Amino acid sequence: MGFLSVLSLAHRWASERIQPGEPVIDATVGNGVDTLFLADRTGPRGSVYGFDIQPLALARTHERLQSLGSRLPKVSLYLESHARMLDIIPREIVGQTAAVLFNLGYLPGADDTKEVITEPASTLTAMQAALTVLRPGGILSIVLYTGHPGGAEEAGAVTAWANGLPADTGQAVVYRMIQKPEAPYLIGIEKKE
Ligand SMILES: C[S@@+](CC[C@H](N)C(=O)[O-])C[C@H]1O[C@@H](n2cnc3c(N)ncnc32)[C@H](O)[C@@H]1O
Repeated sequence: MGFLSVLSLAHRWASERIQPGEPVIDATVGNGVDTLFLADRTGPRGSVYGFDIQPLALARTHERLQSLGSRLPKVSLYLESHARMLDIIPREIVGQTAAVLFNLGYLPGADDTKEVITEPASTLTAMQAALTVLRPGGILSIVLYTGHPGGAEEAGAVTAWANGLPADTGQAVVYRMIQKPEAPYLIGIEKKE
């Protein structure tokens, strides 16, 4: 049967926590796979906020979301760094958000977008913001890649940050294939109730 992929497990963690109608955030919309998943989970009464710094990512995500038709929730996509999350999202979802997903690295599917990657400083700022935005019991998930230039450094910085989180802020776990150190891995943080 095998173990779940990191992407499937990230979705499972979020599915188990998102109630229909709750606000959710995709911090790196990319090709829109995670945004579509979040939109489907929160449903037509919910709201989805998405960030990316590439217009192509927002365009692909907007197109992918159309498959939900009348089930589409309110979706706000921002051509902004996720580091600005707290300045941009509505105040009323701060402390009320069920899930914030990060899928780091570059936009897959086009060679010329591989130079635009997530960077440790803005990623750490955004993850700290995500902890503020989450409701108690909400989930922050981060998919990390070590194979591209800069990836291992970013993954190391994120792992150190999660490792140092006080237990009264949240519970942090790592999901990793220990025989394949180069494979993507997943960190989950559940905000303390
Ligand atoms: C691996 S892709 C995301 C995949 C996406 N979640 C999906 O389901 O297809 C990483 C994305 O992060 C974006 N990115 C890079 N720096 C960013 C930043 N500071 N803020 C938001 N997004 C950023 C890239 O442009 C890229 O589209």
